[in-house]
Amino acid sequence: MRNYLLLLLCTLSPLSQATDDYTVELYDLYCTACHAVEASGAPQAFTDEWQERLDKGMENLVNNAITGIGNMPAMGTCVECSAEDMEDLIRYMAEEK
Ligand code: HEC
Repeated sequence: MRNYLLLLLCTLSPLSQATDDYTVELYDLYCTACHAVEASGAPQAFTDEWQERLDKGMENLVNNAITGIGNMPAMGTCVECSAEDMEDLIRYMAEEK
């Protein structure tokens, strides 16, 4: 069932594909500045540094990303990001499906 759904998404739905591309685009534009730069102190994208963050719960992570936390500025400087975009970005960086 899951594979079938994935196949369906890939073949039939340009919209969901675009959403994915959009998340990657936002990540490249805004989040890489710190989340792909070790020295920034940010949890690095696509590493297990996200595990302890995820343990706080997605809702907390989204809220903290929106208001800013520690050295992270509000919204990670992504002024056009919605709360859903932030959640998509967090799942993408944390490789949480
Ligand atoms: C200017 C640097 C910078 C940018 C740009 C940035 N971050 Fe961060 N981010 C940080 C730092 C530093 C931390 C660690 C903060 C701490 O725990 O003290 C962090 C932590 C986080 C956390 C974990 C919050 C928590 O509660 O532990 C999330 C989620 C997050 N960032 C999402 C994002 C997203 C999504 C983007 C892109 C839209 C982004 N960040 C862009 C620096 C940045």
